[in-house]
Amino acid sequence: MAKKIGILTGGGDAPALNAVIRGIVVNGIKSGFEVVGFVDGWAGVLNGRTMDLTLDDVEDIHRQGGTIIGTSRTPIFPKKGSPDRSDQAVASLKKLDMHALIVIGGDDTQGEADRLFKDKRFPHVVGVPKTIDNDLKATDYTFGFNTAVEIATQAIDRLHTTAKSHHRVMIIEIMGRHAGWMTLEAGMAGGAHVILIPEVEYDFNEVCGVIKDRYESGKGYTMIAVAEGIEETDESKGTDNFGNVKLGGVCEAFQERVQEWLEANMEKPYPEFKFEARSVRLGHVQRGGPPTAFDRNLGLRYGIKAIELVKSETWGHMVSLQGTEIKAVKLEDAVGGYKTVPEGRSEEAQLLQGL
Ligand code: F6P
Repeated sequence: MAKKIGILTGGGDAPALNAVIRGIVVNGIKSGFEVVGFVDGWAGVLNGRTMDLTLDDVEDIHRQGGTIIGTSRTPIFPKKGSPDRSDQAVASLKKLDMHALIVIGGDDTQGEADRLFKDKRFPHVVGVPKTIDNDLKATDYTFGFNTAVEIATQAIDRLHTTAKSHHRVMIIEIMGRHAGWMTLEAGMAGGAHVILIPEVEYDFNEVCGVIKDRYESGKGYTMIAVAEGIEETDESKGTDNFGNVKLGGVCEAFQERVQEWLEANMEKPYPEFKFEARSVRLGHVQRGGPPTAFDRNLGLRYGIKAIELVKSETWGHMVSLQGTEIKAVKLEDAVGGYKTVPEGRSEEAQLLQGL
């Protein structure tokens, strides 16, 4: 009888999850394994809910966004407000006669996988790094990031034309939690005149200086890319099941501040002119729709490599992009802490500010 491999996708969905699933299923079946998907992440493990994954099931899915097996933010080890359900998860994996579990997710999901590996009750675990935020350590890129940056860049491109026509200040909020990768890359590629990321404290007066200079030099409009994590976080918006504070919405308060400043400080070019700041929160648009070719290939390659790790019994490891190669790194090197934007990268963005 073929050995069974279970796969799960946990946390926020990211473009190319399906590409990873396809890579795993194709290489898994060709290598003689049976592959099943746990429905809705760790919740599927807890409740023993699986779906069969055949070659037919994964035909062409690498071109679709989302995840065909569903996802959720469900912990199995104790978190703030949730009990330890690891016994239930282990019992379920054993009952289903799983040989290995491939866990596709970001820091929270991989953290659960690492604990499962370390406490030795079900150590046959392999990880695949996912997140549009690109903040997972021990890999150059997570899949999904490239697509999300492309979507955000296109949004900035489109907002340029409307901002320019109305001579407005346009503030676009980009996801990414406490890492500014998406805002930095989309902001630079989309030609934002100001890029604000959590890693660099901003000076509101300096931002206003850019707006003023651009009006006074006749450019007449300003694009500001703002990361959702630029302000101090508080728990008033609630937390997710892993205890992460929910983010999103900083652009609205920022817009009001800019509007007030414009009205108080700028001189109208003619009586009917109105200085206006507008904001757009891109939100989940960044995670939806088909993945880019880069992410499809990265996802497929990650999936194929994950099966190689199962075959070589390289448990407790995660596949990782290093340069152009897919390698294996210890799960413990990927979890706990985040990969944030280094100074050199933010300085490059700073050089372009206002222009
Ligand atoms: O981690 C991915 C991400 O999209 C973050 O950028 C964002 O803050 C968060 O997930 C949103 O989560 P949810 O889909 O639960 O609102």
